[in-house]
Formats: sequence, C-alpha cells, structure tokens
Amino acid sequence: MTALHDARTLFADLTGREQDGVWSAPGRVNLIGEHTDYNEGFVLPFAIQHRTFAAAAARDDDRIRVASTFADHPVEVSLGDLKTLFPTAPGTIPAVPEWSAYALGVAWALGALRVDAPIGVDIAIASDVPVGAGLSSSAAIEGAVAAALDELWALGLDPVALAQAGRRAENEAVGAPTGIMDQMASTLGRADAATFLDCRTLETRSIPTGFEAAGLELLVIDTQVKHAHSTGGYRERRDACERGAALLGIRSLRDATTADLPRAAELMDDTTFRRVRHVITENQRVLDTVSVLETEGPRGIGDLLVASHASMRDDFEISIAELDTAVDTALAQGALGARMTGGGFGGAAIALVERSQVAPIADAVERAFAEARFTAPHIFTVTPSDGPRRDT
Ligand code: GLA
Repeated sequence: MTALHDARTLFADLTGREQDGVWSAPGRVNLIGEHTDYNEGFVLPFAIQHRTFAAAAARDDDRIRVASTFADHPVEVSLGDLKTLFPTAPGTIPAVPEWSAYALGVAWALGALRVDAPIGVDIAIASDVPVGAGLSSSAAIEGAVAAALDELWALGLDPVALAQAGRRAENEAVGAPTGIMDQMASTLGRADAATFLDCRTLETRSIPTGFEAAGLELLVIDTQVKHAHSTGGYRERRDACERGAALLGIRSLRDATTADLPRAAELMDDTTFRRVRHVITENQRVLDTVSVLETEGPRGIGDLLVASHASMRDDFEISIAELDTAVDTALAQGALGARMTGGGFGGAAIALVERSQVAPIADAVERAFAEARFTAPHIFTVTPSDGPRRDT
C-alpha cells in the first residue's frame, strides 16, 4: 500500500489540504491475444494486483492540476484549455509533458460528457505498476483518474465508458495508436478471473483462470527493456494489418480465418502476409484458450502460450533477445507455457509454472540473463485482481 500513501503525501504537498478521496485502478497482464485488439479481434487479459492511485479533490475554480511521483513538477491548465490542447495532431507530440497527457486526456475525454459547469480538480498520482514493462501502467493511470473524475464530476459511468475515455486519452491526447484491451482489462478487472473481450462488440465474459486451485502461478519476467508505443514498430505493425485487411477486401482482420491464408499469401508481400498470419492465428488461439480453460482448466493452455510466442517472434517480429531468453529458459526449466506479453519490443514475458517451481525457474532466468550480459530482470507473480475502486 505504499503507492496509496505516496499519492496522499504528494497531494498534501501539492495542495496543503486533504483530498476528497483516493481512487485506484490496476495494471494488467495479457494471458493471450496480442495485437488482435485493434484488428477488432479477441483478447484474454486480466487485471493484476499492482495499482495506480489518484488522490484527488474538487477545486473552487476551473483549473485542473496534476502531479505525479514520477515527475519533478505538476502541470496545471484550465479546463477550457483542454479543448485547445487536445486532440494532439497526428504525428506530433502532446503540448504537455507526456505523463500528464494520460491524466489530462482523460479529463478532456470525460469533460466532453459534462453538461453543466465544469469543476476544477487537483490530482496527485503514485503507482506500483512497473512503467514500460508491458503491464499497462498507462491504462492504470487512466483508470484511476477516470474513476476519480467520474465521482467528483458525478458522471455515473460504467466500466466500459471509463475504458473508452482512457482509450481516447491514449489515442488522441498521448498519440499512441493502441487498441482498447488495456483499458478494458483494467476497468473490468475481477479477482480470480480473466476478461475475455470481443474488441469489435466490446462484449466481455469473465473466464476463471483456475490457477490457484490447480497449484499454478503466473510469473512475470520484466526484462527492464523499456518500450513506447507512440512511435515506431507498433504503428508499423498496425499499418501492415490494415494493409492486409484492405488487400483481402475485408473491414478488419477479425473477418478472416485460417481458411483465408492461402489467398492472403497470393495477394500480399511476404512481410505483410506474416503480420496477417499472426493476427488470424492469434485470434484462434484466444478462442482455443478460453475453451480449454473452461473444459480442461489451466494446465491445458501451455502449448497455446508457446505457439503465441513463436508467432510473435517469427511472424509479427515484435520479440527481442531478452524476451526469447526469458521464454526459452522458463520452458527448459519446466514451465507449462510461456510467451511475451503486451505490445512487444521490450517489456515482459509471462510463464505459467507449478507453485513449487517459482523460485527455481526465476533463478534459472536470472542466471541466463547474467550469462547473456542482459540487465537483470525483475521477476514476480501476478494474480487476477479487481478493477477501479475508491480506496479512501
Ligand atoms: C499494447 C496496446 C494494446 C495492445 C497490445 C498488444 O499493450 O496498448 O492496445 O494492442 O499492445 O496486444
């Protein structure tokens, strides 16, 4: 609970008064379904126990001020300024520091929903979600700020609406062309279950992971290689998927199946084809994972996790040496399955392991990283956790 304490302390330092409340939202890990969300496909993430906290209070003017333990200085604008700051023009960086654009972007997205006079707010943010680790620290900020503003502005929004505000902040304020998985995973989090999400309809179903009852743990291996999705490879992958869908004459790759692969191979260059093949096969792996979890339980999903990693490494080409080493070492030491998780180009891998194997597998991965002269990884277990809440 140190981040909760840090958010309260930062708020007191910032304002010299008591907050009205502290709201929090979780980060997430994605069990399977990578780069399928912006292709209107399927994902199976779950919210984790690491959370971001927003201590907040209404002001008696129209200013909005945000502070974070990660930044030296708070950022302050008027609510009216939000409309001139956002949306950030495509291909440019936000006019405010990037960390603050997540929070201010949510205020902008939610502010558009308000009908009566806006109320200024002070917000102080602290987090125990590792940043840049592929665990959606940004969705956790968005979820915590959205939950705070939902209450302070009496909006009465449901978890899907909170997620949509977070995604708008990410896409239009920060300028990262991401899908909606992370925000939905955070706002719909439930202890002991993953969220099966259809990214076209936004329909969700809670799927119990059954890890605990089966004596299994999900290990996160944070490679400490930081990634950013507002630039570079993520956008290129997304463009390739859109190109592939256009060549197939469909609205999105969600509308293709493995039966379309021979035709796709004829229609497109090899790189685009492999990007498309990843998305089409990954959608099927998500559906298969859900059905295995519901019939056999978690011990049956290992091969699907392994196949997902191979597809991201070879077809989508978003893995890196550190992630491959983490996955290969965990599997060699007896993990039931392992894969990189999140957008790729850095971040974390997950491994499904017997509870008794947590320490030996973590040790083996640490040794393999040391031998390869990689930065030491940060290794811990995660459990499915609840979505946004008011903490105090
Ligand atoms: C990042 C994005 C998500 C999703 C994943 C890849 O986490 O924020 O929308 O595209 O990458 O599955």
